[in-house]
Amino acid sequence: MNIKDINLKYGVILAPMAGFTDRAMRLVCRKHGAEFLVTEMVSAKAVCFGDKKTHALARIKEDEGMCAVQIFGSEPDIMARAAEILSAGEEGGISPCAIDINMGCPVHKVYSNGEGSALMKNPDLVYKIVERVSKSIDIPCTVKMRAGIDEKLKNAVECALAAEAGGARAVAVHGRTRDEMYSGKADMEIIKNVKQALHIPVIANGDITNGEEAMRVFSETGADGIMVGRGAIGNPFVFSEIICALSGKSYTQPTLEERIEAALLQLSEAIIEKGENIAVRESRKQAALYIRSFRGAAAVRAEINRAETYDEVKRALYFALENKG
Ligand SMILES: Cc1cc2nc3c(=O)[nH]c(=O)nc-3n(C[C@H](O)[C@H](O)[C@H](O)COP(=O)(O)O)c2cc1C
Repeated sequence: MNIKDINLKYGVILAPMAGFTDRAMRLVCRKHGAEFLVTEMVSAKAVCFGDKKTHALARIKEDEGMCAVQIFGSEPDIMARAAEILSAGEEGGISPCAIDINMGCPVHKVYSNGEGSALMKNPDLVYKIVERVSKSIDIPCTVKMRAGIDEKLKNAVECALAAEAGGARAVAVHGRTRDEMYSGKADMEIIKNVKQALHIPVIANGDITNGEEAMRVFSETGADGIMVGRGAIGNPFVFSEIICALSGKSYTQPTLEERIEAALLQLSEAIIEKGENIAVRESRKQAALYIRSFRGAAAVRAEINRAETYDEVKRALYFALENKG
């Protein structure tokens, strides 16, 4: 897949997930094969106001390889200004390889502000935002959207065409409407329709959790790339599995020990960024997922929920190894 000058051999991408895809998760996913990463979404307004926490979320470092920053907002001028600021890179970091525009967030606070998926109610605004952002930066502008707002307004094709006309270099589509949030199954038909309508690369997203599903999504949609979100939480190995499937190689599931090592690598990277206190607390929602299918996982999770230090998380995870069934 080629997004302007960005070449991806397989088109395998980590989806942006607020509260999850921080630098630590991105690094671990990259290590296991994700070819392109996206930060958590950041508010365009907060970027323009110089909010420190927001700028920290947008910092990308060299070892992350190809990584885009995702912004959300609704005002074309503010979105363009934020994109311009972010495209220069944050202090201590490198420039992103693209600016991605969030047109998929269904959360009430964002939607009711006319941001995220609410932009899909207004394809003219989609065009305007993408046009302003594209013109304000030298790197590609990409868009991530949903299938539409609800069953009545399933207008991903129209919005994707507006984004393409505005200068977007790629469009990712999560095959659910805003109303569906995360329920039901992602609709691959609408992604296929978007792919058929556009000239720029289209990335399919929704419910991909293994190599077989990735192959199915590629073949059902004809998409140029795929994006994996929840399937990568506590399982960065999903990217190697997908790449093996795409290249016709056999894949061996990681051992429990390899899973624990990856969980601890993610935690230690998070500690470097955020300090032990915050990183350990945040790791509660992810670390136990690394060993979810192994015997004793529930007890380990309870232990991790009480952990305050790296060593305590490590001890809890290794407890699973000692009790391997
Ligand atoms: C906890 C969580 C946070 C998310 N945050 C974002 C976000 O910041 N930006 C975005 O475009 N999508 C966000 N998404 C949507 C995902 O990128 C993705 O489109 C969705 O989860 C479907 O893909 P999946 O089935 O592979 O998870 C989020 C999803 C989840 C579960």
